[in-house]
Amino acid sequence: MTINVLFAAHIDRWETYRSPLKSAFSALDLNVHLSPEIAAAEVDYIVYAPNSPLQDFTPFKRAKAVLNLWAGVEAVVDNDTLNIPLARMVDPGMTRSMTEWVVGHVMRYHLGMDRHINNPDHTWEPHTPPLAAERSVCILGLGALGSSVAQTLKSLDFDVSGWSRRPKSISGLTLYHGANGLADALSNAEILILLMPDTPETENTLNAKTLAQLPDGAFIINPGRGPLIDDAALLTALDSGKIAHATLDVFRTEPLPQDHPFWTHPHVTVTPHVAAETRPITASQVIAENVRRGEAGEPFMHLVDRANGY
Ligand SMILES: NC(=O)c1ccc[n+]([C@@H]2O[C@H](COP(=O)([O-])OP(=O)(O)OC[C@H]3O[C@@H](n4cnc5c(N)ncnc54)[C@H](OP(=O)(O)O)[C@@H]3O)[C@@H](O)[C@H]2O)c1
Repeated sequence: MTINVLFAAHIDRWETYRSPLKSAFSALDLNVHLSPEIAAAEVDYIVYAPNSPLQDFTPFKRAKAVLNLWAGVEAVVDNDTLNIPLARMVDPGMTRSMTEWVVGHVMRYHLGMDRHINNPDHTWEPHTPPLAAERSVCILGLGALGSSVAQTLKSLDFDVSGWSRRPKSISGLTLYHGANGLADALSNAEILILLMPDTPETENTLNAKTLAQLPDGAFIINPGRGPLIDDAALLTALDSGKIAHATLDVFRTEPLPQDHPFWTHPHVTVTPHVAAETRPITASQVIAENVRRGEAGEPFMHLVDRANGY
């Protein structure tokens, strides 16, 4: 029997995903008709991205699941017309990409690279950075991405801690959880990385009060989501030197408006939401595996908990 899979991510992604998705379905011996145009009543699975024009799921009466190509689901999780399982993307390629991006920016801060890259006066000032074991790094959010980042930094010998909503156990890491654990997590974070989803609970996790709980001169790296940080509070903390520098990949409004003070602040690096794009080949394998599971009556992978928003 043919399985009808609607490609309902933004149409400009169709050419990128068509061939990897077809290959991934074939590799699992799935007889799939994949197209961006299938009558709603005949669709079995919806490959999706929240920036799709498709926002009303009501006509998809027989669809078994919406399979998101993005890790973040904040723009679809509250859609009242969506009453079937929603899977977010956990893609090994994306996870590697995020891990590499974060490690690069951690190393920039850890080694103090800027002092030699930006040296217009040609000063000869040797400076010995601490070893990684002497540098504390904390990751807020220990999910698919945060736990990979944490383990890679640990393998480089950093003193790694992390914070999540529920208790966790990851060998070699100091772990905190819940609202009561945040202050302890922050208090020893010379370099702080934010890898939480955007939910009503996580908004403004970094605010005037919690920024004050960080060590003086801490560095912040945010590849999670813009609303995790109160922008005004961060700017105040940067101006006072409380926070030495921030690298921000995600923002409340994207693209970041030209008049936003982050663009010109001397202690902010802006990157244009590039930390970890979904990688078509590995992500297509994840989508195909979820279709296989749906057809076999097995539980879907990476289901979104709609009540918790991620
Ligand atoms: N910049 C980019 O290019 C890019 C690319 C991909 C993803 N992202 C962002 O990265 C985020 C994380 O992705 P992921 O795949 O790692 O997500 P995930 O697997 O769902 O992990 C989310 C983590 O955040 C924690 N968390 C959620 N709410 C919390 C709360 N209220 N307090 C404390 N911790 C909380 C979770 O705690 P529990 O473990 O207890 O559930 C979990 O550890 C995505 O949601 C997306 O916003 C950005």
